[in-house]
This record gives sequence, structure tokens and C-alpha cells, in this order.
Amino acid sequence: MIKPRSVVSIDDLNDGDLSRLFFNARSLKDRLRTVSRARNAIMMTAFFEASTRTRLSFEMAALRLGLRVTTFATTTSSMVKGENVADSLDNLVAMEPDILVVRSEEPWDHRKLSSEKTAFINGGDGINEHPSQALLDCFTLLEHYKSDDLSGRRVLIIGDLAHSRVARSNIKLMTRLGAKLTLLAPPVFELAEESSARTIFSFSDVDGPYDAVMCLRMQKERMITGCAMTDGDYFSQYALTSKRLEHLGKDCVVMHPGPMNCGIEIDYAVANGPQSLILQQVRNGVVVRAALLEHCLA
Ligand code: CP
Repeated sequence: MIKPRSVVSIDDLNDGDLSRLFFNARSLKDRLRTVSRARNAIMMTAFFEASTRTRLSFEMAALRLGLRVTTFATTTSSMVKGENVADSLDNLVAMEPDILVVRSEEPWDHRKLSSEKTAFINGGDGINEHPSQALLDCFTLLEHYKSDDLSGRRVLIIGDLAHSRVARSNIKLMTRLGAKLTLLAPPVFELAEESSARTIFSFSDVDGPYDAVMCLRMQKERMITGCAMTDGDYFSQYALTSKRLEHLGKDCVVMHPGPMNCGIEIDYAVANGPQSLILQQVRNGVVVRAALLEHCLA
């Protein structure tokens, strides 16, 4: 029996995997509604933290591919009787789903869940990584630019980098695809670790034009001692407004992984304006996650 392949980090995908995955996602765009692999495989989702896009698009992707889906919900599980996350996961793995998609509040080590029969997909673990989000973000950019890589593309990521697993996975993947990254963060939300990307702290240091800008929200649920900035201060200094977008250039596309707080990190008009790819990211989430499920079961 072939061991299924886990994807817990962008580092789990080599260059060949990436090309195949993006190729398959592109080809699934036209076929996903009619393709049914009828694999008989079962995907289980276990989200220990709230989600709209990630959980539902994995479930949509699996159902479109003909997989069967079962969902663990904390509120109706034995966690309400005191069972902890680690014990819950051990029990889910013992049931041997073919794929287990996990979202957790803390970074987790999937190797502790070692199983010959189950592939693990990281649906976002604390501040660590969110590989499927980075894959769909990069796929959306590649599709927009009708290209196989992001060579020389200038990408600006703005926001709470300190608590962002989306930023961490995107820094890895966008850099591998050749993008030139600039990170703009309030000093209190600077990335703690070293990064190959240039970091700036003020909009006045932004040197447009850019090819793409990604806004991140303040991830208050991960701030143990409270949020170091008010929403008002954040908006006045770091929000993507129409005026600031003008400075980034008329061809600069706007991205946001969601959930989005209009009026804090981005203006409603920008989020819903002609340069926005935000709903295209969500649409692409289904095909990219379908290609990722196929990768894991291959
Ligand atoms: N981008 C993202 O992870 O969204 P959800 O939290 O809704 O899954």
C-alpha cells in the first residue's frame, strides 16, 4: 500500500509537486463540477478553531472529487466533557481516515500523529503555517499574470505579521516562485524571525509601483496580553485605502486571505473595487484544495 502524503508546511512540497499541483488545479477549473474520481476515500476535517473558507472549501473540493466527508465539531464532541486536543486527535487518527485536515490554535507536530494510512493536511496551526492558503494565493497570482512563476513580481504584504501563519507560508512560497517581497508592519507586529523579505514600518517608505498587495487583519485571538493598537490607529496608519492603492499603481492587484475587517485593515471600496482579487482567491480555494487532496492521495 502506498503511504499517503501529508502537507503540513510549504516545505513538504518539492518543485515538481508544486508544478503538478498548479497544473492540476488549472485543469480542474473546468472539470471540477463533472469530475468524480469515486475513490471511496474519506476526508475528515477537525477544526479546533473557527473557519469559514478553509473548512468549507476543503469539504467542497472533496465532495466535488467524489470523496466522502466527515466533520469533527468541537461543540458536539467529547471535548465538552474535558477531552483535550491531543487526545481527540489520537482518537480521530485511530479511526484511519484517508485524509485528516486539522486546524489548531497552536502549532502542532504532525509527526506525533504518525500513521501509515492517513495523510495530514495543515489547515492552519497557530502562528506557524497555512500552506493551502499560500497555494491558493499564489495560484491566483499565477492565473492573473498568466505565468508559471512570479519572477520579478513585486508583492507588498501589510499588517500583523507577528501572528500570521498566512504570511509565513506565503513568504516561503512567493519567494520560491521568484517574487520580490516587501513586508509592511506596525513595529509591534513585526515578524519575530529572520526573513529574506525587506521589512518597512511606515506607508511613507512604500516605493510603488507594486504588482500585488496583500492585507492582513490584526489577529486578536492570538494576542495573549491584548491588542497593542486600537482599530482607529491601525486604520489611520496601515489600512489600504483608495489613496494608498493609487500610490501602489493602477495594475496592483489587491488580496486578502480573509476573514476581512473593512474599515480597519482595508477600505470597503478597495476590497470590492476593480483591482480586488479577494473573491477570486476564495473561488480558487476550491480547485487548489482539490488538487492538494489529489496530491495527498496520489
Ligand atoms: N483564510 C482563512 O483561513 O479563512 P478561514 O479562517 O475562514 O478558514
